[in-house]
Amino acid sequence: MRNLIINGGKQLNGTLKIHGAKNSVLPVISASILLSGKSVLHNCPDLTDVTAALEILECLGIKHKRSGSDITVFSDVPESFVIPDNLMRRMRSSVMFLGSILARCGRVTISAPGGCMLGPRPIDIHIAALKKLGAKVRENRGMLEFSAKGGLKGTDIVLDFPSVGATENIIMAAVFAKGKTTVHNAAREPEIKDLIDFLNSAGAKISNGGTDTVDIEGVKELHSTEHTVIPDRIEAATYLTAAAITGGNVKLIDVEPSNLSAVNDVLAKSGCEILCTGNSVTINAPARLKPVKLIKTNVYPGFPTDAGPLIVSALCTAGGTSVFCENIFENRYVFVDELSRFGADINTYGKIAVIEGKKTLLSAHCQCTDLRGGAALVIAALKAEGESTIGNICHIKRGYQDIAENLCRLGADVKEI
Ligand code: EPZ
Repeated sequence: MRNLIINGGKQLNGTLKIHGAKNSVLPVISASILLSGKSVLHNCPDLTDVTAALEILECLGIKHKRSGSDITVFSDVPESFVIPDNLMRRMRSSVMFLGSILARCGRVTISAPGGCMLGPRPIDIHIAALKKLGAKVRENRGMLEFSAKGGLKGTDIVLDFPSVGATENIIMAAVFAKGKTTVHNAAREPEIKDLIDFLNSAGAKISNGGTDTVDIEGVKELHSTEHTVIPDRIEAATYLTAAAITGGNVKLIDVEPSNLSAVNDVLAKSGCEILCTGNSVTINAPARLKPVKLIKTNVYPGFPTDAGPLIVSALCTAGGTSVFCENIFENRYVFVDELSRFGADINTYGKIAVIEGKKTLLSAHCQCTDLRGGAALVIAALKAEGESTIGNICHIKRGYQDIAENLCRLGADVKEI
């Protein structure tokens, strides 16, 4: 098991380039299956979740190659439509291959998805929508077998909840459906607009991307295309909160500031000065953050659930009491016990977490429980005086490329062993 050793108490200062978005490149790799041709993808981050997505392509008999941050996918018709159990368990986002394989092969078999322990993450919304498009589903020894003989048929779909993954799966499944599909109460995360831009550049006919009502006009086939993945807004939020807790001054470049408004608002409320240009965000943090009365996570453009653990950690040394309310995932607080090892004073009551700011944090030995919870432990360790050890960093490597090198570039003392 690999660990991070962090010698905390150092201010973070300097400039950092943000990578392409994990939650955009994953659906785009899935959607590349739909193209009768080549997808050349730029600005792809080097993450274990991306490697796992490419292994799924391999299982489907689809050739690909990666050089640096470019990924090229040669998607002739997939030879298989089954995603092996071990790969499904390795990451939750494998569920987002459902729509693309079903649309391209007319059938797909998956097992219950794995991924973060963020509570029972069902796929009932995905299944209901695909059935509405005409897919048949059969449960067979823990595997889900979807089939759509004669193809899918466009229709109106209303989502009970604006699920990001379900919205993406429906868009991919509907690309070749007969007629028009309209998704009502669609998720509006920027990564969905990025997926739509990729598909439209390959000849799809999808309109109102990024709104809560998306229209997909079925087409016959998609052709080769080239696409640059949008910047990772949660990676950006991670380095902003790391600068915030250490009282530093950090400039992030190659970001999309408009995708960070809710995060920047909360950091400004905690006393940080935030300056945005076309493709950069600069944070100038005070020696000690102010508490924030109430932060509530919500679907985009609300405060992102993925940035929740990051801000909870940063407020552990604020000058007062902050209240945080998680509205998206049941088990988002699974990291709080580990965070308390740093002396943080956090009490959770269901969806609510009450953070009593302390003057300092103590160095600690802790273990990552999930991706963003792991990032929260890194943020606390950057503040805590002395040497902290963070174990189980495989969770962190799912979503952060070169995190140790990046933090050292900003003046932190971090080693990966
Ligand atoms: C995507 O997950 C992201 N993952 C998550 O990021 C992110 O936290 C989440 O959206 C919310 O923004 C990727 O894009 C790969 P959802 P997804 O479907 O699609 C419930 C990270 O840290 N739900 O919007 O799984 C579900 O249980 C990851 O990068 C159902 O009940 O999120 C959850 O409570 C973590 N039934 C809520 O909706 C369904 O069929 C949000 O899920 C689907 C979802």
